[in-house]
Amino acid sequence: MSLFPLAERRHVLITGADGMLGRAFVRQIARFAPAFEVRALSRSEWDVRDRAPIDEHARWVEGGWIVHAGSLVDMERCSTEAEIARDIIVGGTANVARIAELSGARIFYPQSVFVYDGLESPITERTLLHPLSIYGALKLAAETIVLSQSPSNLVFRMAGFLGGEEKDTNFVGWIVPHIHGLIRAGQKTFAVGDRIWQPTYTLDIALNALLLYARDCRGVYVLASHGEVSFWELTVEIARLLGWSERIELVHTPFKSFSESELGHRPARSVIFNQRLHDEGVDLQRPWQEALAEYLAGSYFDQYRFPPSR
Ligand SMILES: NC(=O)c1ccc[n+]([C@@H]2O[C@H](COP(=O)([O-])OP(=O)(O)OC[C@H]3O[C@@H](n4cnc5c(N)ncnc54)[C@H](OP(=O)(O)O)[C@@H]3O)[C@@H](O)[C@H]2O)c1
Repeated sequence: MSLFPLAERRHVLITGADGMLGRAFVRQIARFAPAFEVRALSRSEWDVRDRAPIDEHARWVEGGWIVHAGSLVDMERCSTEAEIARDIIVGGTANVARIAELSGARIFYPQSVFVYDGLESPITERTLLHPLSIYGALKLAAETIVLSQSPSNLVFRMAGFLGGEEKDTNFVGWIVPHIHGLIRAGQKTFAVGDRIWQPTYTLDIALNALLLYARDCRGVYVLASHGEVSFWELTVEIARLLGWSERIELVHTPFKSFSESELGHRPARSVIFNQRLHDEGVDLQRPWQEALAEYLAGSYFDQYRFPPSR
């Protein structure tokens, strides 16, 4: 049974389909919109810089939906290899927009909170755009292409993700195996910084995008899980959920000393309030604690659990 009015047959083309967010769309569409036919393209199946398959993709997706999740996401690499990053993020998005133009398909574009400078808190749809990094600037240029291609396209400007298990390259995906390895090696303390963020579950994002697609919602929404948390508090919660609390002491350290090299790129605090989702009654996001607990309860994380110590 479909949860939403998504029972019509539609074609959905997903770029970057083997990434954190792409995988979440594949999974949630199979669950909540089983009538949709999905063309899930990993980078090896379509490098979005390649213009050759544009016409064929346009014929296939005619009148459907394009989830454009294919992107370079590594902020540091975007700084050191800016031309490659531009080709992928801006050039790739122009190719996707061309498909939409030829086919009448609508685009969903996942945007980063790094199009903002973090000086205003909370961030809403009315907050001024001011990227501090090359990544943020390129993502903003790509979003401009999407929004000018058609007013019916949908953009989510989002906080950092959790999700994707072995594809999770964000904080949770990195810290879990890292601290687990330290515990196994006998380390008793670990220092974690206090940058504030809102870990936002990729499955919740995909579900929210499906709802907005079904309701024909358009334009820009900001989106994050509910609440906010420092990396340190989040790590303490991860340790509790995975049964590590008595095995390692997590020491709180100020953001500045922990990640000096990042200061030019990432604001120390980026907190979103889902104003438009809230006002339109379509906010499916959950408190970050609930999403994190569900994510870590998955069997993938069994390898990182310890039994309670006696
Ligand atoms: N991660 C976050 O916290 C976050 C927050 C807000 C918005 N977003 C946005 O959400 C989108 C998806 O990000 P994600 O977190 O799912 O990152 P991800 O896991 O790295 O997924 C991105 C996917 O794009 C693929 N890709 C890279 N270059 C490509 C190219 N030239 N052509 C086609 N595909 C290419 C990657 O393939 P390979 O792995 O094979 O390179 C990867 O599978 C991005 O637009 C990102 O900016 C991410």
